[in-house]
Amino acid sequence: MLVLGGASAHRTRILCLVRILVIGSGAREHALLRALRRDPSVGELSVAPGNAGTRALATTHPVDVTDPVAIADLAGRIGVDLVVVGPEVPLVNGAADELRARGIAVFGPSAAAARIEGSKAYAKDVMATAGVPTAASVQVTSVDQIEAALTTCGSPYVVKDDGLAAGKGVVVTEDRAAAAEHARQVLASGHPVLVEEYLAGPEVSLFAVCDGTIALPLLPAQDFKRVGDGDTGPNTGGMGAYAPLPWAPAGLVDLVQRTVLNPVIAEMAARGAPFSGLLYAGLVLASSGPKVIEFNCRFGDPETQVVLELLDTPLGSLLAAAAAGNLADVGPLSWRGAAAVTVVIAAENYPGPPVTGDVITGAEADGVLHAGTALAADGSVVSAGGRVLSVIATGADLAHARQCAYELVGRIALRGSHHRSDIAAAAAEGRVLLPGRA
Ligand code: AMP
Ligand code: GLY
Repeated sequence: MLVLGGASAHRTRILCLVRILVIGSGAREHALLRALRRDPSVGELSVAPGNAGTRALATTHPVDVTDPVAIADLAGRIGVDLVVVGPEVPLVNGAADELRARGIAVFGPSAAAARIEGSKAYAKDVMATAGVPTAASVQVTSVDQIEAALTTCGSPYVVKDDGLAAGKGVVVTEDRAAAAEHARQVLASGHPVLVEEYLAGPEVSLFAVCDGTIALPLLPAQDFKRVGDGDTGPNTGGMGAYAPLPWAPAGLVDLVQRTVLNPVIAEMAARGAPFSGLLYAGLVLASSGPKVIEFNCRFGDPETQVVLELLDTPLGSLLAAAAAGNLADVGPLSWRGAAAVTVVIAAENYPGPPVTGDVITGAEADGVLHAGTALAADGSVVSAGGRVLSVIATGADLAHARQCAYELVGRIALRGSHHRSDIAAAAAEGRVLLPGRA
């Protein structure tokens, strides 16, 4: 708490500045810190483990993000009012439970609620009970079930790892042998497989800030999962994103709130696993309407970078209200009337094992969010992961935001790096078509 006093008593104000610890090390966490910094009610910011770029916004602490006890120990030691957990792994491992058990407020679901991301079969079960539209699917637990499941769901084949796979566990292909081979590999890793009906249509990521009973949707965004231009090559953790979606049908958010978010929040509460944190609905706008292809239990990366850049409502107060179960007291969210684009700069060989340790120049500019970066002993910024940077820009419209983002990308040098050149291009040029419409 900070006490600000003037010379005269009537000018004395008491400001409670919320101290926040953000867990994670990606561009999503950099974006969270950037948005939290804009909130006048936020005081000291800490991050663990952070990256080379987050140092400018927050005090950095080391932590093993897979270890809930280590996270709670850190939060207790440095004395924070709120912990915001970025990645899914700590949540699935019970970090939010450990923090709540120690009386520390946390924005993030319990391990029980995080199963909505941790197990695709669990998510399907929740959706079936709640009547939420999703792709038909067959669970496969042994090699002899693979062929029948592929025949049932048909081509293009969608084969998913049922466990956490950092966005890379899904194969979508018309090559039946490749689909079967992926299923065999996932089974060999000890996870069940989900084979799904293919859904045609544009994808939408819709985030909702939830407090266990209320889901408050943010702006819909679109991300680009494939590594190459024109949606070619393997799936990645995400190569870029934009918001808002000029092509989205009117009323889309209300429809998803009614058919997806509200029923899921009610079903999770009924199961004794109320969802408090960020519920991420990955949707396909199929000809029959929006259908869920995945849920995540945390902010998406890289969509967060664009959604938060457009958010006017103070983020710290919003997340603190959700953590306290008080979303009913939060008024409608406000947004900047602009468009935002982010382009991910990836290391050589990503999404395969990335080449790391190369010097990056130009990464200190405003709008360059860091992900896989580290500070070398000589103070230079070097690559330290697959997705290295997430360059963001806003503009009056998507074409303008795109132009500014790519100008910034052009000022960054990282040997061997690659990025997509078509992020938000189809949307800016009016080329995104909804199924069933010309
Ligand atoms: P996921 O990790 O479940 O989001 O899947 C990764 C990507 O695979 C998605 O962004 C889609 O592009 C694609 N995908 C997943 N499920 C389906 C589906 N049922 N139909 C069509 N594409 C899908
Ligand atoms: N943008 C995809 C994800 O965060 O899983």
